[in-house]
Amino acid sequence: MAERGGGHRLLLRGGSVVAPVGGQRADVLVEGGMIVAVAPGIDAPPGTEVLDASGCVTGPGLVDLHTHLRQPGREDAETVETGARAAALGGYTAVVAMPNTDPATDSAAAVRAVLALARGACVEVAVAGAITVGRAGERLVPFAEMAALGVRLFTDDGRGVQHAGLMRRALEYARPLGVVLAEHCEDEELAGGGSMHEGAWSSRLGIPGQPAIAEEAMVERDLGLVRLTGTRMHLLHLSSARSVALVRAARAEGLPVTAEVTPHHLSLTDAEVAGYDPVFKVNPPLRTAADVLAVRAGVLDGTIDAVATDHAPHPPESKEEPFDTAPPGMTGLETAFAVAYGALCLDGATGAPPWLTAPGASPRRASVAELFGALSVVPARVAGLDVASGHGGPIRPGARAQLCVVDLAARWTVDPATSASRSRNTPFAGRELVGRVRHTIVGGEAVVVDGKAVR
Ligand code: DOR
Repeated sequence: MAERGGGHRLLLRGGSVVAPVGGQRADVLVEGGMIVAVAPGIDAPPGTEVLDASGCVTGPGLVDLHTHLRQPGREDAETVETGARAAALGGYTAVVAMPNTDPATDSAAAVRAVLALARGACVEVAVAGAITVGRAGERLVPFAEMAALGVRLFTDDGRGVQHAGLMRRALEYARPLGVVLAEHCEDEELAGGGSMHEGAWSSRLGIPGQPAIAEEAMVERDLGLVRLTGTRMHLLHLSSARSVALVRAARAEGLPVTAEVTPHHLSLTDAEVAGYDPVFKVNPPLRTAADVLAVRAGVLDGTIDAVATDHAPHPPESKEEPFDTAPPGMTGLETAFAVAYGALCLDGATGAPPWLTAPGASPRRASVAELFGALSVVPARVAGLDVASGHGGPIRPGARAQLCVVDLAARWTVDPATSASRSRNTPFAGRELVGRVRHTIVGGEAVVVDGKAVR
């Protein structure tokens, strides 16, 4: 994003700073894009922009590994500008733009086009490249040319790479470049075009289902390819208990694999589909209560490293189609922090939103520092945005100021009409959440102040 030059000074006053154990009371002084002091009771020099952080925690700005910005091609659903604003309102300082645009981001020229759009955005937008040309699963993209432009993550997301031999070759090309291949784990033959999770609910509703094994078979195949090639891989939006178990075993074996889960798979089950509302259609589909418990446990024990939104905006007319033909996807940037906080840190605690309480969950809950680990620290590392531009870093003098300030006590109800996204397809409409982003600071500049976008 374009930065205000010189020594613009900003003070976050009266809050605490996310720390491994509890929060430490501290103000944060930012100057010229950098954190210059972290201490209680900092005096603001004249001319300082002072933001009230009282009752809040200041953490590293969130980093989303999985954002569909839809530009070029589907500007009716989202643009880089509107998606970036929704991200900032959700506490994100950086997002990775998925390549399933039209045309797909499958060449150096396509990468340059998205990078040009990203320059005007209010958060940092990193560009993910496709693995295959047109995401058609047949020919590999020019990885080296695209990596030379800074592309660090490659994925055909929206589709898995169906041919194991091609994926093996992609991993072999990726290795010397140091880039990460991210897989949308879905065996299309096994998925069989199903529109929801195959199980008791799909039978009752008469909606064709896709079985969990469509995901698990590709997880298993890809873990085997990681073992064979030694190349790092990231597994996108895991949703089934068995997928988590497979990754847990792979990690124990020492395979270089990371994995993410979405806020909706941490919080919603296939029972939501009972009203046939396509807002609950998503890929991978919402699964059973046991799967929700398993993905939560996966984050808690570190098997799943990251929470990523899979923010997938779709315009109202397409989500008004019948369930079978409506496109899959849910928006998520503005609700991710609060949904993940409720599911992982508050689950079952006094004051937790009842709809986010999972019966049978283990009594262990994530700490706020662990939550920031999954929403910021680890994703920044996976996307290479830690070294490149200081995202996900510890809050200390000398670090770049990529920050968000969150009021963990704020209760609010999701209203799609107020979203900054161009689309309205949130599954959380009308639900109560706890934890709200108050300010977001990108490269030392306030882009969200008191819950309002200012840039
Ligand atoms: O539900 C989904 N929607 N899952 C995906 O993998 C792609 C996404 C989209 O682009 O709409």
